[in-house]
Amino acid sequence: MLPKETEQIIDQYRSEGYIIPHPSLIKTPEQIEGIRESGKITTQILDLVEKEIKPGMTTAEVDKLVYDYTIAHNAIPAPLNYMGFPKSVCLSINDVVCHGIPDDKTVLKSGDIVNVDVSTILNGYFSDASRMFMIGNVSPSAKALVQTAKECLEIGTKQVRPFNSTNEIGRAIEPYANQRGYTVVRDLGGHGVGLKFHEDPHIDHFAKRNKGVLMLPGMVFTIEPMINAGGYSVKVAKDNWTVTTRDGSLSAQWEYTIAVTKDGYEILAQ
Ligand code: MF3
Ligand code: CO
Repeated sequence: MLPKETEQIIDQYRSEGYIIPHPSLIKTPEQIEGIRESGKITTQILDLVEKEIKPGMTTAEVDKLVYDYTIAHNAIPAPLNYMGFPKSVCLSINDVVCHGIPDDKTVLKSGDIVNVDVSTILNGYFSDASRMFMIGNVSPSAKALVQTAKECLEIGTKQVRPFNSTNEIGRAIEPYANQRGYTVVRDLGGHGVGLKFHEDPHIDHFAKRNKGVLMLPGMVFTIEPMINAGGYSVKVAKDNWTVTTRDGSLSAQWEYTIAVTKDGYEILAQ
């Protein structure tokens, strides 16, 4: 139940054309605490990968690292068997935008940029975060892309506060990426998360003209802009998972799980 005063503010926004999130998307403090605990595992896994990842490692070895740590902490890797996904983590190298599948033939080599996307279920609560890692010596242009993608996530995150629109996230990110000569992927976005892997609302990282969804305290969603060095078009490989840039250009992505608080935001997984 929201305070009466809040309901009146919401009615005003509704009449102005904003989409009001379904009440089921507002988490209780207990649920937020559950997602926070799940997020700690996700963050710790990314810290572990950060320490261990190096040239010569296969992507299957990174997957094993994630799987073992998750299980040892009484948690479940959310990707494993999710809609048929066969591994515990998404590993997306160079022109792979997202959803790359680890295998024992793909070896990380110096110069690669790789996104490691970790999603954890702990006591039924989901969290989701990803980081980029630069393997060995990476070209200045690839480094710049990775850096800008991180900044895009930070810029988007600063838009999270009650009664702002989810569309302000993309309206902040896209011009920033474009100014640097990059594009923002349009076909995939962030999402509500917490009680399921993917919930409403969908979060666009590019500028949309419609009003968007009103952010309310207790909502939890990801921001995870995919930034391309070339065009924004992507394609899905024959494995039905691996998303690559259509033009073969590099792509970079960072992701947080974020809660809307009384007066701003809290990062629950990073
Ligand atoms: N972690 C991805 C996201 O950010 C989802 C991956 S689905 C999977 O939404 F099955 F590939 F894991
Ligand atoms: Co996500």
